[in-house]
Amino acid sequence: MTSVYKNLIRPDIADMAPYTPIVPFDVLSQRLNKSPENIIKLDANENPYGPSPLIYQALANETYYHIYPDPDSTALRQALSQYTGIEATNIVAGHGADELIDLIIRLFIVPDDAVINCPPTFGMYRFDTELNGGRVIDIERKADFSLDTKKIVEIVNSDSNIKILFVTSPNNPDGGVLDDACLRQLLQLPLIAVLDEAYIEFTGKSRADWVLEHENLIVLRTFSKWAGLAGLRVGYGIFSHWIISHLLKIKQPYNLNVAGTTAALASLADVSKLQENVQKIVAERGRLYQALQEFDFLEPYPSHANFILSRVIGRDAAELKATLAERGILIRYFNTPRLRDHVRISVGTPSQTSVLLEALSTL
Ligand SMILES: Cc1ncc(COP(=O)(O)O)c(C=O)c1O
Repeated sequence: MTSVYKNLIRPDIADMAPYTPIVPFDVLSQRLNKSPENIIKLDANENPYGPSPLIYQALANETYYHIYPDPDSTALRQALSQYTGIEATNIVAGHGADELIDLIIRLFIVPDDAVINCPPTFGMYRFDTELNGGRVIDIERKADFSLDTKKIVEIVNSDSNIKILFVTSPNNPDGGVLDDACLRQLLQLPLIAVLDEAYIEFTGKSRADWVLEHENLIVLRTFSKWAGLAGLRVGYGIFSHWIISHLLKIKQPYNLNVAGTTAALASLADVSKLQENVQKIVAERGRLYQALQEFDFLEPYPSHANFILSRVIGRDAAELKATLAERGILIRYFNTPRLRDHVRISVGTPSQTSVLLEALSTL
């Protein structure tokens, strides 16, 4: 679409390729002519068990939907302090971890500053850097998807405009983790290291408490995965006080809404139940990994998250995804040079896994 006013649009945005939106669930269900409960959605790393049952009563009982929310998310940060063991003063809540990624970039990057991105990884680091006029420096992961630390150090030493490094553990899409020694080395660099722990509940211990010793470290977390709240958009970050003092100047005051906050608080009152779901997903990840190994056209990578990346051998990965979609099973395909022969499958319930395996066995 065009207009006589088109030249008023920021030139970089005018030239930008449009975002390919994810097809909403209801539209998809119509398109596939299948009811939503018959669609097996394993393409966005959502939690197949949904949220804590406690959130429904909490949302029904909430009486302040007509009042703006607390800009400081005081109650939520207090509850998060209990959950993480980190002081509430080191926590900022966000409208999903996605909002915090954008805010961090806005806080540090002026045009021509650079951000190190380590693909294949989560796409929002690149998206938000470009949107905010920053330069993305891609340092590809090695063949086993581990970080190329040596190259990162070399590049940082040769470019004084690099301000931020994004690392993800477990990494999306391969599910691999970053070890302590590597993170320690990266924290020596003269930049802000953002450790995205969106999937940390599915693996070992968080390194959120490292923020207290490393003032250039930020750790991002979310309720979207372990707590099944992807649709309500609640995330948070652990930051040093010096960063928070500036971050709060640019945060939209009412970034979290009342419903999201209420649901997150109810989730934190039901951690043991949600952890049971996490354990079920971890067990199912083991079963799915074993089963995928049995197909001669798949080579799955061991994962620490709620998804498994597989190389597709001797077949077209895009076609595999399309064939499964026709049967109402959605998995993720990335049309990028490095991942063109891969698919990523989120871990579902045992019965969803069985339907997937049955479909794969007929291909
Ligand atoms: C690594 C990573 N970080 C952050 C997010 C987004 O988190 P949120 O839903 O809290 O915005 C995702 C979602 O898929 C992710 O994979």
